[in-house]
Amino acid sequence: MTTPSVSLPSGDALPLVGMGTYKLEGDAVRDPVHVALDAGYDHVDTAEGYMNEDALGDALAASDVDRDDVFLTSKVLPKNLNYESVIQACEDTLDALGTDYLDLYLIHWPNPAISMRETLDAMATLHERGLVRNVGVSNFSTYQLGVALHVSDVPIAVNQIEFHPYLQRPDLVEFCQANDVAVEAAAPVARGNVLEDDVVQDIAAKHDRTPAQVVLRWAVEKDVVVLPKSSNPEHVRENHDVFDFELDPEDTERIDALDRDEASYDDRKRDWTRDTFGIAE
Ligand SMILES: NC(=O)c1ccc[n+]([C@@H]2O[C@H](COP(=O)([O-])OP(=O)(O)OC[C@H]3O[C@@H](n4cnc5c(N)ncnc54)[C@H](OP(=O)(O)O)[C@@H]3O)[C@@H](O)[C@H]2O)c1
Repeated sequence: MTTPSVSLPSGDALPLVGMGTYKLEGDAVRDPVHVALDAGYDHVDTAEGYMNEDALGDALAASDVDRDDVFLTSKVLPKNLNYESVIQACEDTLDALGTDYLDLYLIHWPNPAISMRETLDAMATLHERGLVRNVGVSNFSTYQLGVALHVSDVPIAVNQIEFHPYLQRPDLVEFCQANDVAVEAAAPVARGNVLEDDVVQDIAAKHDRTPAQVVLRWAVEKDVVVLPKSSNPEHVRENHDVFDFELDPEDTERIDALDRDEASYDDRKRDWTRDTFGIAE
């Protein structure tokens, strides 16, 4: 991997910037992924729920990048967390992506109706069979991650959570990093919401960078992996180009002070009626 990275318990390098692909359904994923690979991305994030694994597999096969040079993540839906369903979902994902292994396989959302031990036993089986190199979770609270760490036979390498200047979750991030669980920032630019912020814009002007670059740089300086999604080629390129400048300590302090516990998707105050653990009916 050529992008600066954090190290996982397996020793694998997890690149600090990855291409997010949520909402890039079907063929919509192809062009942005090709732009990303050309721009030096070596990390792509998908999920069985994103409806793009087939097209992403085709896009990767059509590129001249070797499979081993891309860190590829997918996720199993919360409705598929029974032992046999996890195995089946992973095999289907591998088939769709046209690969025989994933670098990282995540539980997309916790599902309190299914035993976490059962799910993680299935993850351990996938790991043993060499189908997944690393195992992790997503949208797990401190409590849920603590349980997962307690019952898992394989290291929990990652917790992918919503993280950006408006939702910084210091206790959760500290708990992850103290337990050798890398933090991945889903929605790292808060779906665009933080890009109009006066403080972010001011710091961007000072460094002659874009607001997105400032927000992404702020995260990677905390060893938080960012997964920005864009279908705009210019944005895709600039989102990876965050390794040749540094924020000043006062910039970091000003962005740290923007935390307002405001979610763009993981709204813990939301009404869950008609919703099943994050997946709409
Ligand atoms: N595990 C989970 O449950 C979960 C949940 C959410 C997200 N994720 C992962 O994280 C990825 C990113 O999250 P997200 O897609 O929800 O939100 P995001 O990356 O925070 O925001 C995407 C939005 O920001 C805009 N944007 C991106 N880069 C920009 C730039 N440089 N300048 C201006 N606007 C920019 C995009 O518009 P343009 O297309 O116009 O650039 C798009 O509307 C997902 O694709 C997915 O891989 C995971």
